[in-house]
Parts: sequence; structure tokens; C-alpha cells
Amino acid sequence: MKDATPRAIRLEDYAPPQWRVDTVHLDFDLDPERTRVRSRMELTRLVDGSAPLVLNGQDLGLEGLQVDGRDWPEDRRSLEPERLVLHDLPATCVVELETVLEPRANTALEGLYVSGGNFCTQCEAEGFRRITWFPDRPDVLTVYTVRLEADRATCPVLLSNGNPVETGDLPGGRHYAVWHDPFPKPSYLFALVAGDLVCQQDRFTTRSGREVDLRIYVQRHNLDRCDHAMVSLKKAMRWDEETFGREYDLDIYMIVAVDDFNMGAMENKGLNVFNSKYVLARPETATDDDFVAIEGVIAHEYFHNWSGNRVTCRDWFQLSLKEGLTVFRDQEFTADQSLRAVKRIHDVQHLRSLQFPEDAGPMAHPVRPRSYIEINNFYTMTVYEKGAEVVRMIQTLVGREGFRRGLDLYFQRHDGQAVTTEDFVRAMEDATGRDLGPFRLWYEQAGTPRLEVDGHHDAATATYRLTVRQSCPPTPDQPEKRPMHIPLRMALLDPSGRPLPLRLHGDGDGEAPPVERVLDVTEAEQTFVFQGVEAPPVPSLLRGFSAPVKLQFPYTHEDLAFLMAHDGDDFNRWEAGQQLAVKVLLAQVRALQAGEEPRLDPALEAAFARVLEDEALDAALVAEALTLPGEGYLAEQMEVVDVDAIHRARRFTRQALGRALAGRWRARHDALADSRGGDAVAMGRRRLRDLCLAYLCAPGEKEALALARSRYEQAQDMTGTMGALRALMDHPGPERDEALADFEARWRQDPLVLDKWFALQAASGAPGTRERVEALMAHPGFSLRNPNRVRALLGTFAMGNPVHFHAADGEGYRLVTEAILELDALNPQVAARLATSLVRWRRFDAARQERMRAALERIVARPGGSPDVYEVASRALA
Ligand code: PHE
Ligand code: ZN
Repeated sequence: MKDATPRAIRLEDYAPPQWRVDTVHLDFDLDPERTRVRSRMELTRLVDGSAPLVLNGQDLGLEGLQVDGRDWPEDRRSLEPERLVLHDLPATCVVELETVLEPRANTALEGLYVSGGNFCTQCEAEGFRRITWFPDRPDVLTVYTVRLEADRATCPVLLSNGNPVETGDLPGGRHYAVWHDPFPKPSYLFALVAGDLVCQQDRFTTRSGREVDLRIYVQRHNLDRCDHAMVSLKKAMRWDEETFGREYDLDIYMIVAVDDFNMGAMENKGLNVFNSKYVLARPETATDDDFVAIEGVIAHEYFHNWSGNRVTCRDWFQLSLKEGLTVFRDQEFTADQSLRAVKRIHDVQHLRSLQFPEDAGPMAHPVRPRSYIEINNFYTMTVYEKGAEVVRMIQTLVGREGFRRGLDLYFQRHDGQAVTTEDFVRAMEDATGRDLGPFRLWYEQAGTPRLEVDGHHDAATATYRLTVRQSCPPTPDQPEKRPMHIPLRMALLDPSGRPLPLRLHGDGDGEAPPVERVLDVTEAEQTFVFQGVEAPPVPSLLRGFSAPVKLQFPYTHEDLAFLMAHDGDDFNRWEAGQQLAVKVLLAQVRALQAGEEPRLDPALEAAFARVLEDEALDAALVAEALTLPGEGYLAEQMEVVDVDAIHRARRFTRQALGRALAGRWRARHDALADSRGGDAVAMGRRRLRDLCLAYLCAPGEKEALALARSRYEQAQDMTGTMGALRALMDHPGPERDEALADFEARWRQDPLVLDKWFALQAASGAPGTRERVEALMAHPGFSLRNPNRVRALLGTFAMGNPVHFHAADGEGYRLVTEAILELDALNPQVAARLATSLVRWRRFDAARQERMRAALERIVARPGGSPDVYEVASRALA
């Protein structure tokens, strides 16, 4: 455990390191119960005088300490619980020390641990200090040489970063391997893996002719699930060369899949360690969404080799420097592999349903936070997803070519350095000449800005005035907000749906004006006057979601239907449909609250019918257009969240649309029955097919459920299986129960597939779901020690099932609170994530507020809890 009273770390306290570690040699004598680690550091003092050497450590003893080959006297060192301070060292010296670890007992999955019988490490952000005493901060970059020694029989494979140097046999059935990484790196990028693994191998020739040995290491029974990851890796490597001129830099690139992992994956230099969920896939075991996610995560970790590893972060406040940029890069990669608009829709849905709530709650923080207690709590939607939006806005402001030049300059200037978001922005400015001065506020100011826009047409002068007002709600520690620089991409559509030339007051008469512009919104209130607008236009605003803001414009139902039909921006056509659906659903929520019967809005029905019949539109876009906004997004639109009314309104609308358009759903479903292939078009067809099935089943009629059941029986792959199961989940009865039982029997031995079975049940809207989740916690396949399992069952219930989690009797909160407390003793990181489900208690009615607050107080009051969970719960109560 850490200190009893957790202390905040502040950006303003940053001080550069006083010592450089020139090289480090690590020697691991691996044993699951007792691993001995010897470290040998060559050090240079960087400042005058007698600055002591401060080393970090956590849950570490000290078995030996020598300086320049001699024992270091007790009175010139102080060993604290989390620091080892050495005084009066010579300005250059060699420090050797020894620690002993118990990998098998490590359930926190940070530092060195055992998963599936194999050794692996996780060091980001501060896991290295659980391995050895070290200046464990990202601005200390060092050249690593690592020697691993283990039993040959149980650990035939011994891996670390960089290139293999030497291997050999030792007495007593032991063997060893030595690895050397020529690139100086921070400790968070260190990794080792040792165990009984097999690998799929391939090659890649870089643009300049370097031959790279590609290897994906897995447990033997998973060897037939690596093809997709390998193909994805090669695509990512080529794409980064072609798009950003970034080439791989070592002779070998390794990926290792492990079943127990706190996050998605980790970009350790040359040796990525992955949650097996983001590596393993065959069509029989993984859905289309899984395939897409794997491609994206493989690419993300690969892209980190430049944006993160070659150029890294000065301190953890700069985390978005690597994460926001790398998410942006993987988003662009995926957009290039599929339909760009569909990718954008998914990313915006993700941002709105997860990041916007975070930014409006007690955990809100800027993209570059100013303080934290536990850095693990700051791997957030804001740092990742909003951070990526900030990078995207920079690209919008400087243009694609300018962005490329800026990125080239950034990598060239800072290769081998640990830098800040400010360095990134400055490279963009220097390469393009664009002033991003006020734009920097996006890194510093938390909260989602609101844009209130209004339009006024004047027939006499043929002008259209667009008035834009911006504001940003208060967030913790930031009551007052300044106006931001918001790029507002827009067009004006004439009554026939054609985009008008956009001539702004003050433009010269020279060139023909463009039909799309990016307005620079920088003031609290601003007016843009467009000339030569004869008839009242319909504005298409925030095209492609050009800024992560909440936009309001007084559109009528007719305007939205018009934009759905005519907007030339695919994203905005989808967005118009969503806005229409939000209006309709919120009206139904109000009706339900007033005790009235909801009714199906004819405008929504007509819009759905039109889209459903549009054979010219890509199936993937049709599916997006016909998907109603989620319960979480609807909740965001309400003053006091009414989970029951939202759920009922959405269910009512799905059922009513299912009935009203039954013939059309069925026709489209049947026409898509045979949709094979792994490309984006085929995936879009399957998505639409399964959406049609879900609408058909929504009313719960026998015939439709029988269709879903037979679809389950005949499914050729996991996408089809899950599509059928999902359509059945809200309808208790023999169809559902038999299919679930069959699924369990078939996949009991397969952890990744069994996770789907747990998650399906945890997400169900059917009565009795909380009882079922509780019963499933006692299922032999469930374990609090496996993060994927916890996320599948408890994460899905707490974050993806608002009606049952927020049940009025408080039983959902009780179940999750007890799980958090139990989990905290095993894995604080995962426990803290689960605890974020409780933080937005102020958004609910008084009775629920009371229960959620009590749950948070119970968590904070518990003695011996982790700082991770403490920080989340105490911020929520503040
Ligand atoms: N850096 C990892 C990524 O690519 C995420 C991660 C953080 C993994 C911390 C493990 C621990 O995004
Ligand atoms: Zn990342």
C-alpha cells in the first residue's frame, strides 16, 4: 500500500532531473515465488553541488546496495517506504542494487506479474518502481541491457526490449537471454516477458529497406487466432510510412498477448504487451467490431513507436502529448481502412457518451491536468479522446499539409527527448506560421464548450447573419471560463439543397467564394454576415464535428428532415437524424413523466422509412442513421436524469418503429442474409442486417423471436451469433434461455468468448438483471482477478445498464459498491475505474443521490483502501 494520506502531485512543482542514468543493466533471476533483480546504473550528476540521488520504489525491499563496487554506508542513505535517497555520491558513479519480488502474488497487475503461468510486466505509468529502485519518471531516458534467466522447461521464451544479443544454457535446467535496446527510453517503456509461448512470424521491409522480423507471441492454443493481428500490423506499418513518413527503427517487433491486463495494450519499445482481447480473433470467435477494434489497437500501439517512444512525455501531466496524438493517428488510420464518415460517427458517439459526461462531472479535468493523486486515474476519455479532438482541430486550422509539416518538425526537433504539449503546439506554429496562441486554452480549460447559434435572413439586403455565442460551464477549480478558439466548419444550403457560395462581409471580390468554410470563433459572441443569399438558407453547422462542443441551433423538425435528405456532409446528415430523434425521445420522456402515453412521431417514422429504403446509401451509414441515440447521451440532455423514463421512451420508440415498419425491416433483413467477407462493406451489411433483426424483435412477438432463434442456430460466425443473441436479450423466454445455455456450453473454455456471454446478460433490460448479475459473480467462470471478466460483468452492468444499475431500491449500487471494496484489495486500478460509475450522483433525483452518496462515503471511509479508489470517491464527494 502507498502512504496513508494520499498527496497530490502538481504540474507547477515540476523540476528537471538532477541525475542522468547513462546506462542500466538489469539481471532477472525469474521465479514465480521469488524473483531476484539486480540493477547496475551508470550515473552522472547534472547539477553543481551535492544533490542527492532520489530513487523511487514501491513495496520493495533492498537486499544489497553498492556504489562503485563498495557497500554504501548506512548514514549516507535513507530508505523510506517509497524513496531511497543516496547522499554525497561522486559526480559520476556506478550504483548497484538488488531487490526480490513475488510475481505470483502480484494481483495489481503492475510491475512484474504472472498471467496464464507466464511472466510479464506492466510499467506505465509507475510500475517500474515495483521492480527496482530507479528514478521512475518519464524524463529520465536510459539505454537498457537486460539479462533474463529462468527454467528452460517452463520458460522456453525469454523476451525484452530491443534486439537479442545472446542466449545460452545454464546448469540445473536453467537458461538465459540478453537483450539490448539501443534507443534511450524512460522506465515506463521497459518490458520483459518469459514463459511457454509460441509465435506467429512474418516479415516487413521498411521503405528504406530495413528487414523487420515480426512476431506475435501467444499461448499455444491461440496460435490459430493471430492472422488478423499480423495483417493489421503490416497495414499500420505501411500506412505510417505513407501518411506520416514514419519508419520502424529496430530489427524485430514483438507483440505478446496476455489474458490478465488492466488496459487495452502497452507500447513498450519493440515488445508490445497486449490484452489478448485486442490480438486474438477468428470469425468464429470474434465479431466484426472485435476485428475493427483489434486493427485499431494494433495500429495505436505501433504508432506510439514515434508518438510516445521516440518522442516521449516530460511528465505525466503531458500524457495527452502521446495519447491524444496517437489516438488521432489511429482514428485516421481506421478512417482510411473503412468508410471515413462511419468512423467519424463512431468516434463522436464515443466522445459524447463517455467524455462529455466526464467533462461535466466531478472528475472533469483539462486535457493537460494540473494535479493528480494517482496518475492511473488520468488515463481518461479526456486525455485520450478529447486530446485527439484537440489535435484534429489543429489539423483543421493549419490544413492537412501544414499538419504534416508540423509533425515532421516536431519529430525532427524532439527525437530522443521528453517534451510537453507546448512543444508540440510550437512545432505546429513554426512549421505553418499559424498563430495558435489562444488555441492553447483547449489544453488548460476543462468542460465542454456550448455554442448557441442563431441565423437571420434579410431578403432586402440578401444577407444571412449567423450569430455565435460561446460559453463553458464551471468545472472543479475552474469557475470562470475564457472564450476558446473554436473552428466551426459550415455551409449554407439553398431551398433546393445546394450549398451556397459563402461570401463573407469583408471578403475581396477576387476568387469564387467557397461553398464550405471554417469560421474562427474566438469571442464570447460573434456575428458572421454572408452576402448574396437570396432566399432563407438552412445552415449545416459544425460539419464533421469540427470541434468537441455542444451546439444549439433552433432547427425545426422540417429543417432536420431537410438536412437528413440534402446535407452534402455525411456526418451532418447523420447528425440531423440524431437531433430529430433526440427531440422526439425527450418529448416522450416528458409525456411519460406527465403520466401520458407516448406516441410515435410521424416525422421520425417517415425519416426512418426513407433511409431504410435508400438502396444507394452505404449499408453502414444506413445502420448508423437508424440507430437511436443511446440512453447515456439522452441523459446528458436532461436537468435531472430520469433513467426509467429514458429507458421506457427509447424502448417504446424501438418497439413502435419495429411494428410500424415491420415489412421493411424484414425485407431489408432478408436481402442482407448472405453477407460474407471481411471488408468494411460486408461489415456494414452485417451491421444493418442485425439492426433490422433487433427492430423486428423489439416488440417481442413470437414470430420475430423464432426468426432470431433460427438465426442463432444458423449463424456462420460470431457476428451473426451475437446479432441474434442481442435481439433476444430483452425478451425472457425459452428462445433466449436456450440460446444462452447453448452458448455457454459451447464456449465455456474460451475466456474471450465467455466474456461476451457475461456482458450480454449484464446489459439486459429484462427484469431480474441485477439478481442475475449477482448470481453470475458466483459462476465458476467468474473471477475478480481477471480485469476482462470484471469489465464484462460488473463494468457492463454499472456503465452500460442505467435502468438496473440505478434501480430505485439501491440494490444495483450496493452490488457494485461491494464489488469495488473487494476488488480494491486485489487490483486498485480496475476498482477505481468501476468506482467512476458512482461519481455523477448529483445528476439524479434526491433518493438516488442519497444512496449514491452513501455508497461513496462508505468507500472513502474504509481504512486501508487504495489511493486510486480514494481519489475517485473523494473527488466525487467534494
Ligand atoms: N499507453 C497505453 C496505450 O496505448 C495504455 C496503458 C496505460 C496501458 C497504462 C497500460 C497501463 O494507450
Ligand atoms: Zn496509447
